[in-house]
Amino acid sequence: MMLTWGLFCVLVTLATARNKAPLLDDGTRTRNKAAECVFGKQVRELGSQWIPDLGVPIGVLYCMKCECVPLQKKRRIVARVQCRSIKNECPEPTCDEPVHRPGRCCKTCPGDLYDSDIIQDIVPQNVLDEEEKSSTKHYAALLTERSSLVLRNDFRLMSNNLNKNNVVATGRFTFHKKNLYYSFYISDKAARPRSLQFVDSEGNILEEFVLSRAGGLVNSLYQNATRKVCGVWKRIPHDYRKRFRMEKIYVALVWGVKDQAEFTLSGQVMKYAALATENFSSLLEPAVGTMTGAGGTAIVSISTSVSTSIYLAIVFNGLFTEEDVADVPINVTLSLDEKKYILQEVVRVKKPHYELNMVEVRSPVTPADLRLLTRGRLVLTVSSVSKPEALRLSGSVVTKVTCELFQATLSSSSDTNRFGTSGLAWLYLNNEGSLVYNVQIENLKTTPDNTTFITLVDVSTKRRTELEDLTPTFDFTNGWANGTLAKLSPKVLEPLYSGNLAVNVATPNDTSLVRGRLVAKPVADARDAPAPFLLKRENYTLPASAVGIAWLYVDNDCCIHYDVSLSGLGSDRRLELFLELLPMLAPGAPVMTRYLGDFEGNQVEGSPVTSLNREEIKRLDNGVGFLKVKENEITLLVATVRHVMAPSTCQPQNPDNDVHSIVDDSDVGPSGDCFYENKFYQQEAQWTSSDNPCTTCFCENGNNKCFTMECPEVTCPDNMKLEKVPGECCAICVNATSLVESNRNVPQKCIFNGQAYSPGSRFHPFLIPTGFDSCTVCTCDAKYLEIKCKRIYNENQCCKNCARVDYSMNGTYSADDEVPMLLHGVVPRKEIPAKSAEQILAEGGCPNLYDARKPYVNGSEYHPSIVSLGEYKCVTCKCENGKPTCWRECDKATCEKLFRMKKKQRTEAGVRWNNSQCCTLRMCRKYRHKKGHRLQKS
Ligand SMILES: *[C@@H]1O[C@H](CO)[C@@H](O)[C@H](O)[C@H]1NC(C)=O
Ligand SMILES: *[C@@H]1O[C@H](CO)[C@@H](O)[C@H](O)[C@H]1NC(C)=O
Ligand SMILES: *[C@@H]1O[C@H](CO)[C@@H](O)[C@H](O)[C@H]1NC(C)=O
Ligand SMILES: *[C@@H]1O[C@H](CO)[C@@H](O)[C@H](O)[C@H]1NC(C)=O
Ligand SMILES: *[C@@H]1O[C@H](CO)[C@@H](O)[C@H](O)[C@H]1NC(C)=O
Ligand SMILES: *[C@@H]1O[C@H](CO)[C@@H](O)[C@H](O)[C@H]1NC(C)=O
Repeated sequence: MMLTWGLFCVLVTLATARNKAPLLDDGTRTRNKAAECVFGKQVRELGSQWIPDLGVPIGVLYCMKCECVPLQKKRRIVARVQCRSIKNECPEPTCDEPVHRPGRCCKTCPGDLYDSDIIQDIVPQNVLDEEEKSSTKHYAALLTERSSLVLRNDFRLMSNNLNKNNVVATGRFTFHKKNLYYSFYISDKAARPRSLQFVDSEGNILEEFVLSRAGGLVNSLYQNATRKVCGVWKRIPHDYRKRFRMEKIYVALVWGVKDQAEFTLSGQVMKYAALATENFSSLLEPAVGTMTGAGGTAIVSISTSVSTSIYLAIVFNGLFTEEDVADVPINVTLSLDEKKYILQEVVRVKKPHYELNMVEVRSPVTPADLRLLTRGRLVLTVSSVSKPEALRLSGSVVTKVTCELFQATLSSSSDTNRFGTSGLAWLYLNNEGSLVYNVQIENLKTTPDNTTFITLVDVSTKRRTELEDLTPTFDFTNGWANGTLAKLSPKVLEPLYSGNLAVNVATPNDTSLVRGRLVAKPVADARDAPAPFLLKRENYTLPASAVGIAWLYVDNDCCIHYDVSLSGLGSDRRLELFLELLPMLAPGAPVMTRYLGDFEGNQVEGSPVTSLNREEIKRLDNGVGFLKVKENEITLLVATVRHVMAPSTCQPQNPDNDVHSIVDDSDVGPSGDCFYENKFYQQEAQWTSSDNPCTTCFCENGNNKCFTMECPEVTCPDNMKLEKVPGECCAICVNATSLVESNRNVPQKCIFNGQAYSPGSRFHPFLIPTGFDSCTVCTCDAKYLEIKCKRIYNENQCCKNCARVDYSMNGTYSADDEVPMLLHGVVPRKEIPAKSAEQILAEGGCPNLYDARKPYVNGSEYHPSIVSLGEYKCVTCKCENGKPTCWRECDKATCEKLFRMKKKQRTEAGVRWNNSQCCTLRMCRKYRHKKGHRLQKS
């Protein structure tokens, strides 16, 4: 296959087939493997067919047909891509000269109707739309030992031993298009389950989700605060959706360790009409030590419109004795602390079932009772009338099981919003029925005493009733109001659930500076992140009401999930979403840009197929990100994104993580930028430290290589004295009398390698990769402002091709030795390339730092050239596929010889040796204990 398989967020059965063990069978892994296919970068649902498009240069293979087929692997149904040639299936053409029509595999004749070589959707879109409209959105399941599916293939009936605490759970399931959001309440005494499985009636696992790692920790604020289990099964195949409608799907929670102390609770996923109006839920459990395997759940709805009333749909099992065969009475009570009874009713079950029974109760209640209900104070009990003590189930009525939060963007386009005040809000009900809220307001300008009012208002009526005041928690300095409303009024819940509750921000000048209606959203993926980000207007030509709310989240597979809702932009713009990541806010900081997707309208959620690389994960967590909403490359809205953490399973340093062993390192990380003194430098850039003008660095594969110069010695004539020049490393000789003045008056300097040198200054040139060349002294000619360099020799220093000259301390050299930089320039290399520089580089050549027009050819060995000196023969580099490897020529044998010599001999040999070996005493001493002869490798 010519496709390049990367690491995909939606895992490919093909690509993961090489893993030895199925990932989920090991409790320490947390990858969710979807039963769907990924081909190229496209996700295909189970059962779909397509003609493979392999892209350039192969193109579309019209005679191949691919299919995403289910495959049974032990108890698991996985998806696999199967492609086959359909050429042999072409019918005999009916005419003598059949033609090959574009986009078709088979040759056809005019009038031929055969079209099996055209792929059609398995289910036409209009049928899907129809199904979508008519099908039930809400499902529920009761998970008890009695309701558990006894698995035929893999008999794993939970033993009482393992479920000695008699754990019970209940789930709610809601379809949003093809995605199914799931939520569970589980007995308090149980730890968080290891995984969740969707199972068919034969016990085959259709889909599995890992819920926790060892220890049962949750890193979701929401799930921790509500004690719920939340998630989403995305892109459910058509066939499975049909099975949901037919109530042929079971759901199973799995605890413990595989093959050791594992136990499972399961239950059938069923439709209940009451779910559409559910406001509260209850998990009904037997008293400790009684009624093993029994349990129940209640779907509770309230109505406050005309008169206050309550409606209960109770699903349960286990309340019947062996004598109870028909028309059995069940006692239903709703009480405050089992003392004060709010509701007491006996209902009859026509035909008791072992697994599941349902009873319904409808009753008027007082507003005061409703308030108690809202605050989670009421206990629901269902009991047998004949054996009320032995056979009873009870549980508190609490916030409904469904994992959901309510969010709003706060904005206004009215004239009073002159400063473009905007904001966001999100809130949810925790397991005690308290409302947890967070409100963020930006660019708020009010009266000098900062008076602001933040309220929850019911907008269903014209009067806009204020229901709750959030102002006391508002901190004007940071713009946040975070808090919890414990004693919630039931009047809040109805408008909240019906979409009529809004957050209103008022100032003395304006009763509604900005506001936003709270919208319910299921909690999963991106919206399970700790907090969303505010998308603010970037372009002031946009209306002040343009604002957005964005959630970002990184999953166990290192894939990023986003969810963005906008307001004030209209709904017909074609928008694009980008994420720009920087290691920090600093000049020159390298930016990594990831395109997330495009969309029309006000809402988008998704996840790019390819996972984040290490550097992106690092920057999301530690760096700074900007989430940008663009239109035709113009940025409309921006959110500053910080501290988006990846789960530990996706951390780069985790060696036990197969994610990174598959990640191709070549597409990981930045280009090798360096960071030094709060600035970024690109690979191969050279700079001087702003702290110390004697320190010069260059950037090598993300590492700062810094060297500090020791200035050549200078002795000034009698009438002059040494003076340091700010910003320069080496002191210069200046007139003793008018030194400062003369300096000021002569601002001209020599420029060498981007650095300024005062006239008369003497320094060593800086060479990549070996640092300052102490064998060369350069001078800024005071008269012509010209740099001249010459090689010097002294006993301790290397000098290639040095003439033996006396090292004069007063700074004068014989003129022959000087190499005026401007005249010589770069020494031409032997091979003058016929190819262009771009061509050479494209073929793996290496850049020539001193003359960009003459890069080094791939595979060639060369001595790097230096502007003033020509080739620097003591350093040899080899260019290999764009990367130079350089070393200094000085081998161990040479050094050993040098050490064996007497001092006098050494000095004499020095010159000779330096000529041929580029080896000096000093270097040998330095590297005496090092092995090998390649002393400086890059
Ligand atoms: C989870 O919730 C408990 C109490 O509900 C709290 O004490 C704990 O700090 C929370 N943990 C996290 C990680 O939020
Ligand atoms: C129903 O339960 C309540 C509370 O336990 C009890 O007072 C009442 O008598 C029961 N009703 C019947 C018919 O058993
Ligand atoms: C509020 O109104 C007063 C008087 O109408 C005006 O002077 C002031 O600028 C207004 N403040 C803001 C923040 O709009
Ligand atoms: C209003 O807010 C500003 C900015 O945070 C602060 O400097 C000022 O002291 C506040 N004024 C009052 C009266 O709190
Ligand atoms: C409010 O909550 C948000 C999101 O969790 C947090 O970023 C912010 O710092 C909090 N503000 C205050 C004042 O607590
Ligand atoms: C703002 O948007 C307008 C058009 O909507 C565009 O012409 C302008 O260049 C944008 N300004 C910036 C700074 O992007």
